[in-house]
Amino acid sequence: MNYLSRLSVVAGIISMASLGCNSGQREQPAVASLDKRTPVPLPADAQQAVLREMRQMLGAVGGAMDAAAKDDTTALLAAIAPARSAAAADPAIEALLPPEWKELAERTHGGFDSLAVAVRRTHGPAALKDTVLTHLARVSGSCTSCHETFRVVVR
Ligand code: HEC
Repeated sequence: MNYLSRLSVVAGIISMASLGCNSGQREQPAVASLDKRTPVPLPADAQQAVLREMRQMLGAVGGAMDAAAKDDTTALLAAIAPARSAAAADPAIEALLPPEWKELAERTHGGFDSLAVAVRRTHGPAALKDTVLTHLARVSGSCTSCHETFRVVVR
């Protein structure tokens, strides 16, 4: 390796290190040009609250599948509770979100609400699995629509 190419490797490492230090701060211009989704600027604490709610919803989806596989209705209702409308983001954060986001979020939480109603009416392991599969397929469609439309940035 000659001097110049060694120099460019070092420069590359330094710029990668500084990228790492910036993570969570202002986004890199490259991200803005590569990611065509609509950026939703939020203060850091609201961004963290949104991502926490997302992880809860993923947990609810996983928990629902696990409970359905074990034919455990009680565990199923407990798993989806954090994703239902009653547990949705606080109004101060909602005020910062675009209308289309709110509509998709309501549809998603509503999907978990109707799953809870359907689960209470369902009897037998096969019917429970069927109910969960049908409802989660619909809910996943809302997750995907929003993920394809929006991203969050710290302002
Ligand atoms: C109304 C919009 C919306 C809906 C509905 C939605 N998400 Fe998200 N979700 C987002 C956005 C925006 C991000 C951040 C993506 C980014 O900035 O790159 C995100 C991020 C996530 C993350 C990553 C969290 C982290 O810690 O980084 C997970 C997991 C996730 N969503 C799961 C889900 C699941 C599961 C559903 C459906 C049950 C769902 N989301 C529904 C908008 C949504």
